[in-house]
Amino acid sequence: MSMAERASQTKSSRGQDGDDDLRRFRTLDELEAMAGTRLSQMAHAYFVGGAGDEHTLGQNTSAWGEIDIWHRVLVDVSQRSTACDLFGRPSSMPILAAPTALHKLAHADGECATARGCEVAGVPMVISSLASTSIEEIAAAARCPLLMQVYLGQDRELGRDLMARAEAAGVVGFELTVDTPVWGLRRREIASGFHIPPGMDVVNLRRTGGGTSSAGVGIAEVLGWTISPSVTWKDLEWACGLTKLPIFAKGICRADDARRAMDAGVRGVVVSNHGGRQLDGTPATARALPGVVRAVEGRVPVLVDGGIRRGVDVLRALALGATAVQIGRPVLWGLACGGSAGVARCFEILREELDRAMALAGCPSVASIQGDLLKQG
Ligand code: FNR
Ligand code: LAC
Repeated sequence: MSMAERASQTKSSRGQDGDDDLRRFRTLDELEAMAGTRLSQMAHAYFVGGAGDEHTLGQNTSAWGEIDIWHRVLVDVSQRSTACDLFGRPSSMPILAAPTALHKLAHADGECATARGCEVAGVPMVISSLASTSIEEIAAAARCPLLMQVYLGQDRELGRDLMARAEAAGVVGFELTVDTPVWGLRRREIASGFHIPPGMDVVNLRRTGGGTSSAGVGIAEVLGWTISPSVTWKDLEWACGLTKLPIFAKGICRADDARRAMDAGVRGVVVSNHGGRQLDGTPATARALPGVVRAVEGRVPVLVDGGIRRGVDVLRALALGATAVQIGRPVLWGLACGGSAGVARCFEILREELDRAMALAGCPSVASIQGDLLKQG
């Protein structure tokens, strides 16, 4: 039995590393509360915050709760499974760890611990371009399927190098983030004096002209050089021509942009507003998802992230037509609470919740989660 199959069994697995202590966390909110006491004020402000007045940040979570599920009764759900295939690999459930920067701010073992937690949970991890650990080290640390997230900066060739390195390290696909012409303004981050602590860096990137990212306060000053306001559809098309692996465009909210991304050659889209960290005022992803699903017409998979905090939200996203969802901040909370075991616990909570929600809605398999769940029969 594969790792993913084992993790997808309805019987819950035990905490990793014999760490039964983590089992006292029963919801992602409890992990978040504990992480708040473990992290430095700066790391917490950076992870938790959103852009502007944090309107989109708040809506991301609340909008999922507004979607009614018209549960079906008297379905035999005695045999059920959350398992599915993602990027041609078996996964314990339709969930990935979203790309998030600088995991060493959460735990000394950084991205390697996250990858090990994902392996235990049987889910893929998307490595951030702004990871604090080298791609090769992450790939050596764990056997979970890995994807690479890419930002295109001023020097497009650096993006090409990063993709080639990630491909050599064995990633199964890419997410090219398209919602960052500039960084959103995050007040909490700036108020907390966000900087990259000495001894830490975005080690997979090279600043043209040398140097590191130690100067300034807030992401725009510290990491402004990693992105570029001149990136366009042409660049996306160029990137799609660089590899045979699938490239997903991450950060899509509009139907016309989804169609355009497919024309550029992407093999999937990620409906995302960057966890409410870019344009404050853009719609919650739960509201953006249906239009993108309609535009894509089943031609490519649609992933979604933003504010997904419960297994039942995963059910809602799949019923709306998503192939899978990504989880951002809660993975960081798990990492802060217990390293790889904390990450595994975060996913275990979600899997148990999804399993229960599927049983109660009359869905024994991922494939049985369809749009009719959202309508009166
Ligand atoms: C992110 N996100 C992000 N996205 C990306 O494409 N590259 C990155 O390096 C990062 N870094 C990052 C850091 C932190 C601290 C956060 C919270 C988010 C966005 C991320 O991939 C995802 O879109 C959101 O986090 C999803 O929303 P939730 O699950 O955090 O609500
Ligand atoms: C962020 C970047 C790193 O949201 O994507 O902080």
